[in-house]
Amino acid sequence: MNLVCATRDPALNTATKADPAFLAEVLAGLSARQKVVPARWLYDHRGSELFEAITTLPEYHPTRTEHSILERHAKDIAERVGRGRVVIEFGSGSSTKTPLLLSAIEPEAYVPIDVSGEFLHESLQVLSRSFPGLPIHPVVGDFTKPMQLPRLGHSPRLGFFPGSTIGNFVAPEAVDLLRTMATTLGDAAQLLIGVDRIKDPQVLVPAYDDAAGVTAQFNLNLLDRINRELSGTIPVGAFRHRAIWNDDEARIEMHLLATRDLGFEVADHLFRMRAGETIHTENSIKYGTRDVRVLLRAGGWTPVAEWTDAQQLFSVVLAEATPRRVGP
Ligand code: AVJ
Repeated sequence: MNLVCATRDPALNTATKADPAFLAEVLAGLSARQKVVPARWLYDHRGSELFEAITTLPEYHPTRTEHSILERHAKDIAERVGRGRVVIEFGSGSSTKTPLLLSAIEPEAYVPIDVSGEFLHESLQVLSRSFPGLPIHPVVGDFTKPMQLPRLGHSPRLGFFPGSTIGNFVAPEAVDLLRTMATTLGDAAQLLIGVDRIKDPQVLVPAYDDAAGVTAQFNLNLLDRINRELSGTIPVGAFRHRAIWNDDEARIEMHLLATRDLGFEVADHLFRMRAGETIHTENSIKYGTRDVRVLLRAGGWTPVAEWTDAQQLFSVVLAEATPRRVGP
């Protein structure tokens, strides 16, 4: 749960209303040698809005490519998935690709999970109008933790994890997450997952450092959020957005670069940064087609089909929960 409201009542200390997990992770992350704030904190209401704006940028290929893959192969995907499944969407955000999937497979029910409750409910209003007969049960929560879902029908579940959000998780975390999903989804589950592919850094870097500066705003919003919700005094104007391709780790990294020596407080803790020092705010790991399959297998899933675009910018992979067995 992550519903933090700034209070207008001066008698209440806003710091006491802060999300304790946000505070703990920011204090720990800013105390590390390479400063870091976990990427999930980028998505407050403003951050979710800015991310939506990113998805329509000319430089940002993943969303529109995944959308066109789902559109083009909807029939094929539906044939493999079958009708009447309960669809669980992880990190649904504004759910722009969901209508494509739902109209193709005619599910029994739809359960979107997102950390931003406000954003979730706003976007679901549109969706429920397009699918009047479909039972929708939104869940506000953190899907990286095992969770008990509302009991809905007896159909096997289909997890939907689009957008290459898996790329935010380094290998051990990604494997844990896939295993948690297998547990949450249960027997005979399937998973439809979107993964951004390794490609020319000259294509990748601009996707995370666009000419209009929307990604910069998205990244810098994290500092505003810390100031707002955790009584921070960060001089936001002294930071710049950086996106770099880390070839060893096959990932884009977003950083916030201090342009001068500076100091600030967060909830009465003092931090200092040197000019040129950064706060690492996001990893966006990219995968080769075989890498995805190895990752899925490690996470308890057997890949059964893959769809991609002509340029192989992005892949949508269908996997089945691997039954427990004794093997060689
Ligand atoms: C939502 C995690 C898939 O990594 O491409 C976009 C987030 N960050 N631009 C991505 C993001 C900067 C996005 N994911």
